[in-house]
Amino acid sequence: MCGIIGYVGGGNAAEIILGGLKRLEYRGYDSAGAAFLSDGKIQLIKKQGRVEKLAPLLKEIHSRTGIGHTRWATHGVPSDINAHPHCAGGIAVVHNGIIENYAELKAELISGGAKFVSDTDSEVVAHLLLKNYRGDLVFALRETVKLLKGSYALMAICESEQRIAVARHKSPLIIGYGADGNFCASDEPALAGLCNTITILEDGDIAEISEKSVKIFDRFFNPVTRNEEPNLAVSASLGLDGYPHYMLKELNETPLSVEATARAFEGVKERFREELAGVRRVILTGCGTAYHAALIGKRYIECFARIPAECETAGEFRYKNPVIDEHTAVFAVSQSGETADTVEAARLALSLGAKVIAVTNSHRSELTRIATVSVPVAAGPEICVAATKSYTGQIAALYLSAAVLAGEKFYADCAEKIRLIPNLLTLTLESLDMRSLAHVCASSSGVYFLGRDLDYAVALEGSLKLKEISYVAGEGYPSGELKHGTLALIDVNTTSVVIITDEELAGKSGNAVEQVLSRGGKVAVITSLEGVKEKFSGKLPLVVLPKCDKYLSPLLSAVAVQMLAYKAAAVLSREIDKPRNLAKSVTVE
Ligand code: M6R
Repeated sequence: MCGIIGYVGGGNAAEIILGGLKRLEYRGYDSAGAAFLSDGKIQLIKKQGRVEKLAPLLKEIHSRTGIGHTRWATHGVPSDINAHPHCAGGIAVVHNGIIENYAELKAELISGGAKFVSDTDSEVVAHLLLKNYRGDLVFALRETVKLLKGSYALMAICESEQRIAVARHKSPLIIGYGADGNFCASDEPALAGLCNTITILEDGDIAEISEKSVKIFDRFFNPVTRNEEPNLAVSASLGLDGYPHYMLKELNETPLSVEATARAFEGVKERFREELAGVRRVILTGCGTAYHAALIGKRYIECFARIPAECETAGEFRYKNPVIDEHTAVFAVSQSGETADTVEAARLALSLGAKVIAVTNSHRSELTRIATVSVPVAAGPEICVAATKSYTGQIAALYLSAAVLAGEKFYADCAEKIRLIPNLLTLTLESLDMRSLAHVCASSSGVYFLGRDLDYAVALEGSLKLKEISYVAGEGYPSGELKHGTLALIDVNTTSVVIITDEELAGKSGNAVEQVLSRGGKVAVITSLEGVKEKFSGKLPLVVLPKCDKYLSPLLSAVAVQMLAYKAAAVLSREIDKPRNLAKSVTVE
């Protein structure tokens, strides 16, 4: 999964591509590269590592047409050779997606004499373009995509043509209209400040982008007109505002995220209510942190509305042949709204007759566009790869959605309760002191996050966050399950973080604390309960949270575990905002 950008016009292509790639780097940072048309020749520059490495090399480029790429490696290790663009003859191409039948295509091309240099799936596209080229790059692209299986957003240039040919299938691609030329890119942020209007291409579209014109064709190669929409991406670069990392800044924005999400919900409440009238079954889906929010949403829907609900990671959901009919509502939860597994799960649900509710922070994403109705998460741009404020926003959105399904009076009560949360989050953020626990976790051989019910869902999130940014191994576990296996892993080198915010389950989770202590493991407890504080005070590290409604407590304990992960990663001097091997949005399956 990668970020791509192209430009053709009267401006300095190298500068434009470099700026766009910097804004796209959240989509992958294993390597970066660009190809330019210069004096009828392709000039290629690519490097393993961050976009910044291209900057000095691009100073030498004088060109008005170029394409660029920032890579999250899927096929072939991160290296200069595997970096995009890939070239064949006088053609260069960048690709976001996965060509699933690349091995067969490659074998066929090699038998025809093609010479491959990289281990990527994408290089086959360059060779196919060359093979299909008869003096018209758009035609060559059209013939090429007929042979591809998988997902792609493609941009190609050719040394004998002053234009860019693009195509998309299941990977995002937009066109931007500028005053001094035209653009194409994976998403709006890449074009922030460059153009005021954009067109979001549809699956199967192919387009020809020149300095003065843009022509779009549908999957049957009929000319089509697609809507032009305002480019909403902000041009100012989103600064750190004095914070050392985006993650810390974004954690401190969780109160705003909840407040703005609750406000935004008012705007869609009626539509949501109408669309979901008569729903008898709910399925929630998402990936990673969004899946953890979905787990909490499932509990809300069952507890508040008494509608049977299930939760499944999006990648699994798709291949389970799910039982779905028109009385089923599928909540697809995704910060980016473009995670391939989640978008495809939503498509599948729609095709089976379900209503799909997009719960997303990205209001013009593919997920929003295909959903029956969107419930906005108003977290604002989230730059750090690790999700924080989008998670709290998702929980808030799901809480209010479930409350609507439970009836007017119940909703009014919940809307009142959630109004208190931004202040409680601010209090939590001000009072959290995770320094010594972070040191303990950073030096542990494994960290186990334990909890029951909603606390268990937050335990999963704590564990994921710690692994993701500190690279410390561990697991999220239901505390009742500890004694059924995981207890064997507990020794003096491990730490268990037990979350206890539910009065009714406090005794049970307290048992898990004792079980770990009696095996010599280190334990810390995160709690908002007086009884738990009294029981463990002076005996083990306690993280005390403000008192809060049981169903909303995940919002506070989530911030606690995310902050713990942040501090542990800081102790280990990790690159917190861009953890190794990862990317912010994952548009491949
Ligand atoms: O954009 P999405 O919410 O669909 O992304 C889903 C996951 O890739 C994401 O939550 C991931 O797990 C985070 N990096 C975790 O911090």
